[in-house]
Amino acid sequence: MKIAVLTGAGISAESGIPTFRGPSGIWKTFKPEELATPQAFERDPKLVWEWYDWRRSIIKKAKPNKGHILIAHLEQLFEDFLLITQNVDGLHQKAGSKKVVELHGNIWRVLCTACGKKYYNYQVPLEEIPPRCKYCNGLLRPDVVWFGESLPKKEWETALEFVSSCSMLLVVGTSGVVYPAASLPFLAKQKGAKIVEINPEDTPISQIAHIRIRKKASEGMEEFLKML
Ligand code: APR
Repeated sequence: MKIAVLTGAGISAESGIPTFRGPSGIWKTFKPEELATPQAFERDPKLVWEWYDWRRSIIKKAKPNKGHILIAHLEQLFEDFLLITQNVDGLHQKAGSKKVVELHGNIWRVLCTACGKKYYNYQVPLEEIPPRCKYCNGLLRPDVVWFGESLPKKEWETALEFVSSCSMLLVVGTSGVVYPAASLPFLAKQKGAKIVEINPEDTPISQIAHIRIRKKASEGMEEFLKML
């Protein structure tokens, strides 16, 4: 069986990382247009980096939870497997997932706006804000996808291709409102895949799910594995 998994911020909620929407979501406190857009970065790179430095400090302390670990276990059960995540926290890889596509980048990777070089920087807190490129001293940005930016081409094409031919798509912890990632379940369904959703809440994906597990990721993953 060819199985794909699509995850969102909800899978990291039990690791103590705030989600974006919902009662205690990040976007309740901060305005995305002020922090997660190219215009915001252009206007005030220091403010944007202070916010990412804060998020990096939370993520650095976070550990993968049972949901991440069971998804890494699921990968061992199926030769034909791909994990597609919208998360930038790197917790799936820490939990042992190998076949991972990061649609929205990675908060630990930096990209130089001057020389274009990309590399990992795990400093918490950052020594200098905004941080400068270790190669050319140019202004660095987080290597994440901001609103209004396109997804990384290779990652998106890999996700599209796999989802178009999988027999099952497991969707865990995403509100299903941010495109183009949110279009993947609809594409999978259209191509005949079985859709399973793990989320304590209803989402636009719920209406096309064959199976809805109304649980948190860790319990929901346990229930899902028992069904296999
Ligand atoms: N287990 C499973 N799901 C959970 C849990 C949990 N413990 N807690 C919350 N959820 C669900 C919520 O019900 C919600 O449907 O996780 C989802 C989180 O939704 P969002 O906060 O919108 O996160 P996400 O869907 O990943 O957002 C997509 O939006 O802000 C941008 O780039 C950012 O990648 C992000 C994208």
